[in-house]
Amino acid sequence: MNAHITGTGRFIPPDILTNQDLSRMVDTSDEWIASRTGIRTRHIARDMSACDMGEAAARAALDTAGLSPADIGLVVVSTTTPDRPLPSLACDLQLRLGLENAFCFDIGAACSGFIYALDIAALYLRTGGVTHALVVCAEKLSAITDYTDRRTCVLFGDGAGAVVLSAADKPGGLLASYLAARGDGGAALHCAPGGCIQMEGQEVYKFAVRAMPEAIEKTLAKAGRNVTELDFIIPHQANIRIIQSVMHRYGLPPDKVAITIDRYGNTSSASIPIALDELAREGRLRPGALLLMTGFGAGLTYGATLFEWSV
Ligand code: ACO
Repeated sequence: MNAHITGTGRFIPPDILTNQDLSRMVDTSDEWIASRTGIRTRHIARDMSACDMGEAAARAALDTAGLSPADIGLVVVSTTTPDRPLPSLACDLQLRLGLENAFCFDIGAACSGFIYALDIAALYLRTGGVTHALVVCAEKLSAITDYTDRRTCVLFGDGAGAVVLSAADKPGGLLASYLAARGDGGAALHCAPGGCIQMEGQEVYKFAVRAMPEAIEKTLAKAGRNVTELDFIIPHQANIRIIQSVMHRYGLPPDKVAITIDRYGNTSSASIPIALDELAREGRLRPGALLLMTGFGAGLTYGATLFEWSV
């Protein structure tokens, strides 16, 4: 049995926070933010919860997969911002969506959460215990962002992305993945209970430009594939300069690299499934397309996963 992505969905809250808006809140400018990060706008959930956003993304993913809630056997949610400590966001989504046959849990891998969650769900599909799994990444980073700190508040946005993974006895689907963590770097990016994100930007930057190539190369090596064979790469959207460093290292042309950071900023674990859903709905993922997704984040965590698109 292989794990295939059979549905994708996203939800972007309608309220937009522009660089100009932020320049009226802290000592910053559109020029600084755009040139240092590539971000021009980000979307803010306001009174919507992480569960509201996750529900909308999950409904879209179920819809494209052509499945009903009762078909789902597992729900894995990645979130840095659950609406409350208990119960899990995954169980709240189960209730909202009527996923009556699923077992449900949240994971905490910050911005690498989608890569981690996909791999976990795929393991259950491969062993035959589950036929369809729902992976949801729902992030309300505005709830843990200090809008008086110009070093962090310009970076983050809210949103949700979701996929349905289905077990099928056919080639393609998840080919290989590589997950890793470096807890000794955890101090570079953290958030105390009830507090806001604190980040040593340059430390995280240096980590990211080492970690993503490591994850990309280990994943491709496991699958016996080469970077030149890739049709698309979806990197975590944290900073355009980090993405460009990966593009330059491997000579990747812009049409092979998904970029949403200009519009959505950093939406943590939701950034990759949001970009994936955009690619899928634009009709750019043909059966057989080789797609690599890679992320890094608080932990510090990082990883990559390689898929052959099969729908
Ligand atoms: N506007 C204007 N000036 C600013 C701003 C701002 N928004 N933010 C910082 N500055 C200033 C600093 O105060 C500093 O001024 P100084 O020299 O007078 O002290 C100067 O700009 C340079 O600051 P740096 O931190 O050196 O700027 P850098 O070029 O490193 O860019 C950034 C900062 C964008 C944060 C970058 O380091 C980065 O992207 N790091 C990676 C962040 C990341 O990937 N985070 C992942 C988080 S994922 C998760 O798990 C939530």
